[in-house]
Amino acid sequence: MTESNDVILSLKHMQKSYGSHKVLKDISFDIKKGEIVTIIGPSGGGKSTTLRCINLLEEPTGGEIDFHGENILHPSYNRNTFRSKVGMVFQQFDLFENKNVLENCMIGQELVLKRSKDEARKIAMANLKKVGMEPFIKAKPQQLSGGQQQRVAIARAISMDPEVLLFDEPTSALDPEMVGEVLEVMQKLATTGLTMVIVTHEMGFAKSISDRVLFISDGIITEQDSPYELFDHPKNEKTQKFLSNFRNNEF
Ligand SMILES: Nc1ncnc2c1ncn2[C@@H]1O[C@H](COP(=O)(O)OP(=O)(O)O)[C@@H](O)[C@H]1O
Ligand SMILES: [Mg+2]
Repeated sequence: MTESNDVILSLKHMQKSYGSHKVLKDISFDIKKGEIVTIIGPSGGGKSTTLRCINLLEEPTGGEIDFHGENILHPSYNRNTFRSKVGMVFQQFDLFENKNVLENCMIGQELVLKRSKDEARKIAMANLKKVGMEPFIKAKPQQLSGGQQQRVAIARAISMDPEVLLFDEPTSALDPEMVGEVLEVMQKLATTGLTMVIVTHEMGFAKSISDRVLFISDGIITEQDSPYELFDHPKNEKTQKFLSNFRNNEF
C-alpha cells in the first residue's frame, strides 16, 4: 500500500442503503491532515449521509472507513475514541437549550474527555473568544441570533480538539445577514491548520477556502478537483448543469 502518512481518513467504496434505497453507491476519497475539503451537489444527492457515515451517526452498509489506516467499521475497533476525534457542526446548531453558552462548550470536554471543570472552562473561554462570543457566556441559546448560536456550536466543536471537523451546511438555516460572520469564523479556523470537511451551498466560499472540491450526486462522486478546475472548468455534465444554476458572478 502506498498510503501516505498524512492521510487521516480514507473512505473506500463506502455505501449506505435504507432498505432497498441505495443512497450512497460508491464513495471513495481521502482526507489529509490540514486539508479543507468541500462537498457540493444537488439536494438529496447524499452529502449529509456521507458526513453522517464518516462520524458514525449512520452505519455504512458497505465499504471501509480507515482512520489512520485502521478500519473503524471492524467489530473490534474502539469507536468511542474515534467519535471524540471527529467533530460535527450541524445546520440547526443543536446546542443544549437549557445550558448557557459557556456550559455548552464545557460539558463534552468534561464528560467525554474527562477534563476538569477549570481546564474545560479555560479551553471553552479561549475558543469562545476566537469566535467572538466571549461577551455572551451567560446567555442561553434562545437569547442569541442564529449566527451567534452557530459560532457557539463551532467553539463547542473545536473545544473537543477534533482531528477532523465536519460541517453540514452550517449557514443554510441562517438569515442572509448572518451568513458572513459564520463563514468568517470558518475561514479563520482554516488558517489554523484544522482539517475540515464542509458541505455548503456557498459557492464563492467553497471556491476560496477549499483545497479540493467534491461534487456528489446520486450517491457517487461524479467529479473531484481543485476549486479552480471544478468551478471554472467543470468536466462532468452534471457539475456543469448544477453550477449553471448559480449566477455567474457568485463565484
Ligand atoms: N434515515 C433515512 N431513511 C431513509 N432515507 C434517507 C434517510 N436519510 C436520508 N435518506 C435519503 O437519502 C438521500 C440522500 O439524502 P442526504 O444525504 O440528506 O442528501 P443531501 O444532504 O445531499 O441533500 C435522500 O433521498 C434522502 O431521502
Ligand atoms: Mg444535506
